[in-house]
Amino acid sequence: MCGIVGYIGKRNISKVLLESLQRLEYRGYDSSGIATLDNNDLYLCRETGCLENLAATLAEYPVKGNVGIGHTRWATHGEPSKVNAHPHTDCENNLVLVHNGIIENYAELRNKLKKNNHKFRSNTDSEIIVHIIEDYLKKGAKNLEEAVICTLMDLKGAYAIAALNKNEPEKMVAAKNGSSLILGIGKNEIFVASDASAVIPYTRQIVFLEDYQIAIIEQGKFNVINLNGNNVAYNVSLVDWDIDSAQKDGYAHFMLKEIHAQPKMLKKILSEKFNSDNFSLKLSEFSKIKKYSADINQIVIQACGTSFHAGMVGKFIFEYFVNLHTDIEISSEIKYKHFIYSKKSLIISITQSGETADTLIALRQLRRKGLRTISLCNVVGSTIARESDAVFYIHAGPEIGVASTKAYTAQLFALYSIGIFLGTLKRIIKKSLKSSLIKELTFIPSLMHKVLASEQQIAACAKKYAKYNDFFYLARGINYANALEGALKLKEVAYVHASAYPAGEIKHGPITLVCKELICVCIVTESSTYEKMLFNLEEIKARHGRVIAIATEGNQEIKNYADDVIYIPYVQEIFSPLLVALPLQIFAYYVALARGCNVDKPRNLAKSVTVE
Ligand code: M6R
Repeated sequence: MCGIVGYIGKRNISKVLLESLQRLEYRGYDSSGIATLDNNDLYLCRETGCLENLAATLAEYPVKGNVGIGHTRWATHGEPSKVNAHPHTDCENNLVLVHNGIIENYAELRNKLKKNNHKFRSNTDSEIIVHIIEDYLKKGAKNLEEAVICTLMDLKGAYAIAALNKNEPEKMVAAKNGSSLILGIGKNEIFVASDASAVIPYTRQIVFLEDYQIAIIEQGKFNVINLNGNNVAYNVSLVDWDIDSAQKDGYAHFMLKEIHAQPKMLKKILSEKFNSDNFSLKLSEFSKIKKYSADINQIVIQACGTSFHAGMVGKFIFEYFVNLHTDIEISSEIKYKHFIYSKKSLIISITQSGETADTLIALRQLRRKGLRTISLCNVVGSTIARESDAVFYIHAGPEIGVASTKAYTAQLFALYSIGIFLGTLKRIIKKSLKSSLIKELTFIPSLMHKVLASEQQIAACAKKYAKYNDFFYLARGINYANALEGALKLKEVAYVHASAYPAGEIKHGPITLVCKELICVCIVTESSTYEKMLFNLEEIKARHGRVIAIATEGNQEIKNYADDVIYIPYVQEIFSPLLVALPLQIFAYYVALARGCNVDKPRNLAKSVTVE
C-alpha cells in the first residue's frame, strides 16, 4: 500500500513530484523515491523514512528532466530500507518503475527471471515487474507500452504502475488493476497519481482509469488503451474539493484540527441532508437509497477499523429505527465465510477512503452474488464509490490524520440520516417522531462545542495517565462500539495497549487483569444500562483498578465510583455515540503527545490500506 505519482511537463520536476508525494504520504512513509529522465540520462534518488529525508538528499544531489515518477512506500514485501525503496530499475538501468499493490505470483515469476540471469537488488514483489518489461523488450516488443501490456498478462494481483524507458525519454506508461490510478490533465502537462488529492493544486481535470487500462503519456498529450492495444474512451471529471482544508490552520496536528472540525462539519452535513425550517429530509439526497432498499428484509454492513466501529453503531440504528435485522461484518473475513444472505439483503460498505482493499474485495464478491450494494464513502470518485450500485457521500472533507476522527462522526451521521429515512419509508417512524429526531440531530454540533470546551481538562487527565501501559475501555450497548474506537485510537496514536469489552464481559475473564496499574476508561453516560455500569465500576474499584468515567453533565454520584470524570452534555442514548467519540479522541491525542509519538503519522500505519 503505497502512493505513486508521475509528471510530464515543464515545471521543476523534483518539486512537483515531491509536492504530489507529500499529499500521498498518508498511504505510507517507510521510504520514498523519485526517478527522472533528461534526454537519455536517468536520475534516481531514494531514501528511507519520511519525504523530508528524500527532499534533503535531492537538495544535495538535484535531478533534471521533464519526465519523472515517484513513490512513497508502506512496506509489504521486504523491510523498509533504501534497497527496497522505489523506483526500481531493470538489470541494465534502462527502465524504471513505481508500483502500488501486491503481485501474488511474484515468487514464481522471480524464480523464472533468476533462471534467465536477471539480477535483483531488492526483496520486493514490485521489482519483478520492471525485469519482465525488460525481458519483453529484449524479445522484440516494439516499445514500452507493448512490453507493459505483455507484462500485465503475466501478473496476478493488484497493481498501479508507472514506468519510464531511457530509450523513449519523452514518454511514460501507466496502468492499473485493482489499485487506484488517475491522470490529472493540465495545460501542456500531465500528472499521474494514486488519487486525485495529489494533483488538485495543479489541476482539477481528472481521468479515473479503469482496471486493465493503460495510459501512454507524452508531452502535453495522452491516450488510453486496453490490453488489446486498442484506444478506449475515457471521461474527464471535474474534482471540486477544497484544498485549503488540507492545511493545519494553526493546530499542532491534523488530528487535532480534524477533532475540532467536527461541529462545523456536521452543521454543513445537516444543511445538505435536512430542511432546517421543518426538520424534514431532503428527499433528493436519499433517492438512490430508496431505489435499492424498497423491498429489503435485512441489512449487512461491511467495513474495517474505525469504519467497522461506525457500522456497529449502524446496527443499533437500523434495528431501532427501521426494525430490520442488521449484521455487521469485518470485510477481511467475508471472503472466507459461507454466505447465507438472501437477494433481499442490502449491503452497506462503509469506508472513508473508498480504497480499502479488504472492503473492495468483499464488495466485489457480494456483487458477484447479485446482492445490491450501497457505499458510505468520503473520498469522491474512489474505487468503492464507483463500484457500488449507489454511493452516499459522508462529506467529512479531506481527512489527513492517519487516525480517523471526523470521518467517524460523519459516518455515524450518515447512518443516522439513512436510518431515519428508511424508518420513515418503512413506516416504523411516524412523522412527528421523525421531526423530533431530526431536531435532536440539529443540536449535536452545539453540544459538540461544549465537549470541545473541556479539551484542557481532558488533556490534563491524559497527561496524568500517559505513563500507564494497560487500558481497558468499557461500555454497554450502543457505546461498546465507541469503547472499541477509543481503544483503537489509543493504540494507533499513542502505541499503548488497550482492550475494549462490553462491561458485562469482564467478570468472565479479563477481570484477572484488574489492578492499580490498569486504567479503565468507562462510558457511563445516562442510558438504559447506567445502573449495570455502576456495578462494573464497583467490581473494578474493589480490585484497585483506576477508573476514568465519561459521564453525563450534572452526575455527581459518579464521583464515588471514578478517579476522574469527563463530563459530556446530555443527549438521548441512541445519539450518544456522536458525543462520546470526542473525549475518547482528545484523550488518545494528548496521551500520544505526552509520550512523544508522531500523532499524524503513527509508525507502521497508513491512511489507506490498499493491500489484503
Ligand atoms: O478508509 P477506510 O475507512 O476503509 O479505512 C478503514 C481502516 O483502515 C481505518 O478506519 C483505520 O482503522 C484507521 N487508521 C482508523 O483510525
